[in-house]
Order: sequence, then structure tokens, then C-alpha cells
Amino acid sequence: MQRADEATADVWPEYNRHGDFVNPNWGRMRAAFPDFELVLCDAPEEEVLAQAHSLPLAWDGTAAGLPRGIDSVFEHAFSGATPTALCAMAVEIVPAHQGGGLARRALDAMRRLALAHGLRDLIAPVRPSWKERYPLTPIERYAGWRRTDGLLFDPWMRVHERLGATVVRVEPRSLRITGTVGEWEAWTALPFPETGEYVFPGGLATVAIDREADRGRYWEPNAWMHHALG
Ligand SMILES: CC(C)(COP(=O)(O)OP(=O)(O)OC[C@H]1O[C@@H](n2cnc3c(N)ncnc32)[C@H](O)[C@@H]1OP(=O)(O)O)[C@@H](O)C(=O)NCCC(=O)NCCS
Repeated sequence: MQRADEATADVWPEYNRHGDFVNPNWGRMRAAFPDFELVLCDAPEEEVLAQAHSLPLAWDGTAAGLPRGIDSVFEHAFSGATPTALCAMAVEIVPAHQGGGLARRALDAMRRLALAHGLRDLIAPVRPSWKERYPLTPIERYAGWRRTDGLLFDPWMRVHERLGATVVRVEPRSLRITGTVGEWEAWTALPFPETGEYVFPGGLATVAIDREADRGRYWEPNAWMHHALG
């Protein structure tokens, strides 16, 4: 996995690499569920093109039964309940290969992986890739936007939709990232001179800066999408 991790190291904006719950659980997830880690390679050269991370969990098939967000996925996955669904955690296309249609292939691979393990549902807390262009729009509205051809507005959500997935629920507070003001300034290369809400480069929502408490807090929104595979 080391080569694949190096190849996809630049996929995330720096701020996104500091999740309060994701960071302490990511390595644990990969160690516990190695069968649900995928690496897409170019066969002749064995060049790494993408990684896809997922994990199995129990899901009752209802919107209310979904984990609250990405942060809550781990407690569901480690609850000891018999898994019934595969949960996509991230697709990381190597930057030089983005925009070439690999997203669909990565999702397809996860769908086949789920079926190979007898799991008939693939659920995904989707991080809408163009939400960063509309950080002030509530995810409840953004996730419903459609193009004139009727397909979802967001490119990454559209890849899911083209494979038959539907939006089940949106989650404004899916992934929490907390840091000192100095950390947030370093992660975003943006000074935050006073307490307040700030739009920042690559942010899907605003970051709340509290200079008196020396804290910045950001909640990443996601849209839960469901692929019925059975
Ligand atoms: C989001 C991501 C997985 C999409 O993969 P990709 O290989 O770049 O996307 P694809 O080439 O398969 O295209 C998917 C859709 O986005 C559109 N798209 C891709 N790049 C685009 C660009 N630069 N401008 C406009 N549209 C673009 C494609 O047209 C396609 O839509 P369509 O099928 O309706 O035509 C990839 O960019 C990525 O890894 N991003 C960083 C990590 C991330 O955010 N992962 C997703 C959250 S887990």
C-alpha cells in the first residue's frame, strides 16, 4: 500500500487531512478491513492510477439507519454487528489521471467488491467535488441541484447517479476538523485576523474561527448515496 499511498498523497487539500475522528480511525480501518482496500493500476507499467477505501457495516436499509456522517461510520463498522452493506469511504484518483473517466471504474470496482462479499448495498457519504465552488449554499439545496438534462449538477454525485445510485440523505455535519487558529492558517495559507466565519480555498463549507479560544472548527458536508446491487 505504501506505493499507492505515495501516488495519491496530493489528492486532498491540506486541511482535509486533519479529521478529528477520521485521522485516529483511518489506519485502524485499513488494518481491520484489508480486503476492502482497492488499488487501480495500469497493467503494463503497474502505475498506480487510483485508490478506493471502503469498509463493511450493518445497515437496516433506511435513511435514519445510516451513520450520522463519515465520523460515525467507524463506530458502526466496529460495533460487532454482522455487516450487510459496503460503505465507500474515499476514492482517490491520482491527480494526473483525474478527468479521464476513472471515477466510474473505481466505483464499479467497489460495487463488484461488495457483491463478491455477499453485500447487496453500497452506501457512500459522497463529498461533492464542486461544493467547494458554493461554500455558502446549504448542502440540503446543493445536493438537489440538477442540470438541464435532468442529471445531478455535481460531477462526482453524477458518477454515482449514472450507475443507478440515489441520494438518501444529506449530512451537513459529516466530518469534523478542529485546529488552532495557527494550524488553520497554515493549512489554508490564509490569515484569519478576527473571530468569524470564513470561506477558504477548497472548503466545502466555511470555517468558524474563534481567536479568543484559539480554535477553528469546520464541518464537512456529505450526501449519502445508495447503490442497490441486488
Ligand atoms: C472526485 C474524483 C473521484 C472524480 O474522479 P475523476 O477521474 O476526476 O472524474 P471523471 O473523469 O471520472 O469524471 C467524473 C465526472 O466529472 C466530470 N469532470 C471531471 N473533471 C472535470 C473537470 N475538470 N471539469 C469539469 N467536469 C469534470 C466529468 O465530465 C464526469 O461527469 P460526466 O460523467 O457527467 O461527464 C477525483 O477527481 C478525485 O479523486 N478527487 C479528489 C478526492 C476526492 O474528492 N474524492 C471524492 C470524495 S471521496
